[in-house]
Amino acid sequence: MDTILVFNFGGQYCHLIARRIREKGVYSEIVQSDMPADKLNALSKKSDVKGIILSGGPSSIYEKDAPKMDRKILDSGLPVLGICYGHQLMASYIGGKVSRAERKEYGTSYANIRNATGVLLGLGKKEEVWMSHGDVVLQMPKNIDVLADTENCKIAAFMDRKRQLFGVQWHPEVVHTKNGDKILGNFIFNVCKCRPMWKAESTIPEYQRQISEEIGEEGAIIALSGGVDSSTAALLASRAIGDKLTAVFVDTGMMREKEADSIRNMGKTMGINLIVIDAGNEFIRKLKGVSDPEKKRKIIGSAFIRVFEREAKKRGAKYLIQGTIYPDRIESGQAKKSSVIKTHHNVGGLPPKVKFNGIIEPLKDLYKDEVRKIARELGLPEEMISRQPFPGPGLAVRIIGEVTKHKLEVLRKAEAIVSEEIERAGSGIRPWQYFAVLTDTKSTGVKGDSRAYGNVIAVRAVESKEAMTANFAKIPYPVLERISSRITSEISEAVRVVYDITNKPPSTIEWE
Ligand code: XMP
Repeated sequence: MDTILVFNFGGQYCHLIARRIREKGVYSEIVQSDMPADKLNALSKKSDVKGIILSGGPSSIYEKDAPKMDRKILDSGLPVLGICYGHQLMASYIGGKVSRAERKEYGTSYANIRNATGVLLGLGKKEEVWMSHGDVVLQMPKNIDVLADTENCKIAAFMDRKRQLFGVQWHPEVVHTKNGDKILGNFIFNVCKCRPMWKAESTIPEYQRQISEEIGEEGAIIALSGGVDSSTAALLASRAIGDKLTAVFVDTGMMREKEADSIRNMGKTMGINLIVIDAGNEFIRKLKGVSDPEKKRKIIGSAFIRVFEREAKKRGAKYLIQGTIYPDRIESGQAKKSSVIKTHHNVGGLPPKVKFNGIIEPLKDLYKDEVRKIARELGLPEEMISRQPFPGPGLAVRIIGEVTKHKLEVLRKAEAIVSEEIERAGSGIRPWQYFAVLTDTKSTGVKGDSRAYGNVIAVRAVESKEAMTANFAKIPYPVLERISSRITSEISEAVRVVYDITNKPPSTIEWE
């Protein structure tokens, strides 16, 4: 299959590059930026590599530990497109001069297109582009064509016609670059001559074959959370190995109203061998007296693993199947440098504490939208596919302070009201994620003719794409009003409802 490799120089938009290319029907994979040329040659033979994109990155090419690449690759005959850091690095390798910019450029800028050729084919004279850089390419050798400049950047795009090397200082992969998609399309189709052959759904038979070949006659187990990733992995595995698969759903007691029932039903609809472990008491016991959010997350994560270990041992399962997807792998690989904001407990990322013959991750090369396509093809019910995300630790991170059974009951009722009212308001206003939070603030109110003193419930609703950033949803006031009046009248403990109007960053989506 025609493939474009994306060399990862640590840029935050590296993922977007691969996504945009796959959206165009061409398979794309992210690889380490220091891949040696001979390894690339071997890979090219196997998977028909047609071109390379060098991503952006946070470093300056002159820093001591700045990431490099094997420069022999630039002579391998494969076309290369360098973006931002990749543009500067490639420029320096082919005889250009790069230096600190007098003025850093962040955000929207305008590029003067001097020569609309190569990757810039079909672009206008002035193009809106998105930039984020502190270094600039100042000079290029004579044999290199300068294709564009901006106010602060004399060489904002270049081309080595002979070797088909292109550099752009701006980011074509972000939506703020108006014709970014055209630039990527020019590169993959006109320059690299890729054919659009990639379709997530067409990988199903191959994934199934791999699963059944690896597992053979043994038994396997999968932790099912009810989310789209683990459900799709379970369906794929069940199609491959039938009743040798057992899906385990751990009911932590921190789930939403009727959640465990809906997962039981899902097991039936999908024809999967599913067991539900009621571990609510165990979890609440371990959380007694704990109010620190990070401690709560860690306790829940490890309690989950204990339950799962017991079940796997009981069933003598030799293989573990996980719903890990592509961003999970890449993000955990890069996590070394980033600070821990929250310890995400995700059943998809269950550590292999129990001894297994093997761990199989059938969705490990796919993005969320691709997983959804496969889920549809496999017949996963639509309500499961478009389900909003739900954190592994469940309602425990939506109760500020210690978790008790009573608080869980209060929050469950509030959560159900928020969901019902937002869903009733119609799909047009349905945000990406919406829920209630039980705060630890008490407040005075008046109910009937008497003073009431009770809980403050917060409503959180956000719009997002990948949960990395989010904006609070602009829910119409009448909907918020219905939510507020229902919560205060149907839940005796609640006297006040507030709406969270912070974006991420600086807030996170969940309160804890
Ligand atoms: P934050 O609160 O970090 O959340 O902005 C981003 C997205 O992740 C979900 N979330 C989790 N998902 N395990 C998960 O699988 C977790 O521990 C976890 N914590 C938060 C959250 O609901 C939001 O969609």
